[in-house]
This record gives sequence, C-alpha cells and structure tokens, in this order.
Amino acid sequence: MAKINEQRVVEALKHVIEPDLQKDLITLNMVKDIAISDQDDITFTVVLTTPACPLKDMIENACINAIKHFIPEAKSVKVNMTANVTSGGNMSGSSVENILANVKNTIAIASGKGGVGKSTVATNLAVALAKTGAKVGLIDADIHGPSIPTMFGLKEEKPDVMGKTLIPLEKYGVKLISIGFLVDQKTAVVWRGPMISSALRQFMTDVAWNELDYLLFDLPPGTGDIQLTLVQTVPLTGSVVVTTPQDVAVSDVVKAVAMFDNVKVPVLGVLENMSYYHLPDGSKEYIFGQGGGAKLAEKHNLPFLGEIPLVTDVRKGGDEGVPVVIRNPESEQAKLFMNAAKKLAQQIAIKNAGIGSGKVEIEL
Ligand SMILES: Nc1ncnc2c1ncn2[C@@H]1O[C@H](COP(=O)(O)OP(=O)(O)OP(=O)(O)O)[C@@H](O)[C@H]1O
Ligand SMILES: [Mg+2]
Repeated sequence: MAKINEQRVVEALKHVIEPDLQKDLITLNMVKDIAISDQDDITFTVVLTTPACPLKDMIENACINAIKHFIPEAKSVKVNMTANVTSGGNMSGSSVENILANVKNTIAIASGKGGVGKSTVATNLAVALAKTGAKVGLIDADIHGPSIPTMFGLKEEKPDVMGKTLIPLEKYGVKLISIGFLVDQKTAVVWRGPMISSALRQFMTDVAWNELDYLLFDLPPGTGDIQLTLVQTVPLTGSVVVTTPQDVAVSDVVKAVAMFDNVKVPVLGVLENMSYYHLPDGSKEYIFGQGGGAKLAEKHNLPFLGEIPLVTDVRKGGDEGVPVVIRNPESEQAKLFMNAAKKLAQQIAIKNAGIGSGKVEIEL
C-alpha cells in the first residue's frame, strides 16, 4: 500500500460532503493544515462556515470515518474543528455600501405586529450566537420603544465616547447600542422618520463595532414607513420574521415577509414564539393551534427556525436582564433558542454560498 501522504488524505476527504453546501470539503476549501506523523497519526483542521454550525459533530465524524475507510493503516485521526464565518458580501441595494465594512452579516429581527417577542428573540439569538464563539453585535433599532437596555440589564449604563466614536456596551459576549443608552426615553419618542433614520445610520457609522460575524437589528413592530425606511437604510444580509400562533392566521406576518421581498432582503427564517405552554402534567397546550408558523414558512418557501413556548422564565429573563439562554441554559426554552440560532447561522452560510435557502431539519 502507498505510504500515507497528504494527497491520500485529500483524496479521502473528497468523499466528505458538506450537507448544506452540497459539495465536498476539499472543493469547498474547508480543510487546512494536514499533518502526518512518522507514526502515521493524521491531523487536520476543518474550517466551518460558522461556529454555530449544527452539523459540526456530524462533519467531524464523517471525516474520521472517511480516513478510517480509505486509509485503514492510519494509527489515529484527529480533527480540529474551527470556523471562519462567511460574509454576506457587499449587501447591495443600499446607498451605504461600505458602511459596515468589517461586519460580515447583518440580520433584521422583524414582525408584522407588536408584542410578539422580537426583542426577546433578538436578545436570545444574539447571546446564543455569541455562546457558540461568534463575534456578535446587536443594534436596538426600536427608537420609540427600546427594550435592549432592560433585556441586558444595562438600563443605567452609558457607552464611552472616543472622539466622535461611541464604544458599544458589551454583555454576555454581545456588543450593544440602543437609543436608551444615549437619551432620555421622552426625548426620542417625538422623533420622526428622518431623525430616526439618521440615529440608526449613526449607530452603524459612529460606533466602534470592529470586526463582527453577525450584527442583529431589533426592529420596531410593523411594516409602516418607519420600518421600510429602516430596512432600506441598513445594508441587510437577511431577516428573521417573528410571529405568534394567533398572528399567523392574520395578514400582518405576510406583510412583513412582503416588505422584505419588496426591498430584496431574503427572509432567512420564520420563528414562532409563544407557541404553547406546559400543563402541570408536562403536556403541551397549543392554545391557538399547532404548526401555524411552520405551515406559513412552508407556504412561502422559507426556512422555519422553530417554536418557542410561552414560559415565565423567558419573561423574567427579559425583565431581569438575564436572557434565558444564560439564566437557565439547560431548559427546553434555552435549547430551542440555541437551536434557532444555529439554524439561522446555517441559513446565512447557505445564502452566502449562493445556494438559496436550504430547508434542512435537524434534531439537536
Ligand atoms: N416565549 C415567551 N414566554 C413568555 N414571555 C415572553 C415570551 N416571549 C416574549 N415574552 C414577553 O412578552 C413581552 C413582549 O416581548 P418583547 O418585548 O420581546 O416583544 P416585541 O415584539 O419586541 O414587542 P414590541 O413590538 O413592543 O417591540 C415581554 O414582556 C417579554 O418578556
Ligand atoms: Mg421590541
């Protein structure tokens, strides 16, 4: 048998297909630093498209199996899994092309109507992505009703200023900016469209975000002029539409999807919040019917990011400034948020690879 060399490792790994991107790891240039010791121990690094990749373990196992199969005489195989988040590109469609040059992906969290849990979702998704090791920022774009200071427990904090640049606050691994950190709530309430746009623009241009993998925007509710201006001001990679089961039946959520369609911003996922609650015996009560959000996603050919139950813990997390993915990471609700964040990261990676939406369902 031929001696183990780098080429044989490469040939073996050509058999490992990245399930989302539908190409092998070598073609995708995801394998680096192949090394073979004198004792025939093989090591290499696989560079994923996001640290939040839900298929991480599966890909690692597939690599080990491929080496064992094609190079049976290898004494051991060690795979180092790392990630380099892909970028949403120049995010055209906006006049502000290089506005966020060091930010790889920008995602708006939106909803057709108010109170469905956008800020809760934006907060938990941001913290969940940060927990996977990604560099994450969150802009509170709800100028009239900012919730991010409360949800992160930073109501009394003010960002530092260096010259003309604001230093974002940072908590739970997420960099944050909100009008709530800067002016009295009463001041911003009277601001109209142009002032809101210019505040939001400054949140992008005058804040030291440095390098970010994901920058999330918590949008104000609805699909009116303000929201439309916002989604045109921000160069967006994509959006997440949050809905509740009772909202699914009405047209608001469809309007939110249509708004993004109009400005050519892809909807990277629909997330249903407050889907069910647990009865004392542990069973799930779907008070407004089951599966509405998933069906809506399917009808519009959009990825579905999951159902989050209605639980006191989530509300308390918001009120007390300790998001549920931090406060109770082993809970069902925290795991569902982690899962939704991974699915979102996966959809971003798929979009950035130019494959279109991949509606893969994975159980974690
Ligand atoms: N899954 C959940 N379980 C329990 N409470 C929740 C859940 N999701 C959100 N809430 C609570 O519902 C209320 C509204 O949530 P949130 O502020 O996130 O909604 P929103 O869509 O951002 O609202 P707005 O439209 O005013 O910006 C908050 O008190 C929040 O803690
Ligand atoms: Mg909100």
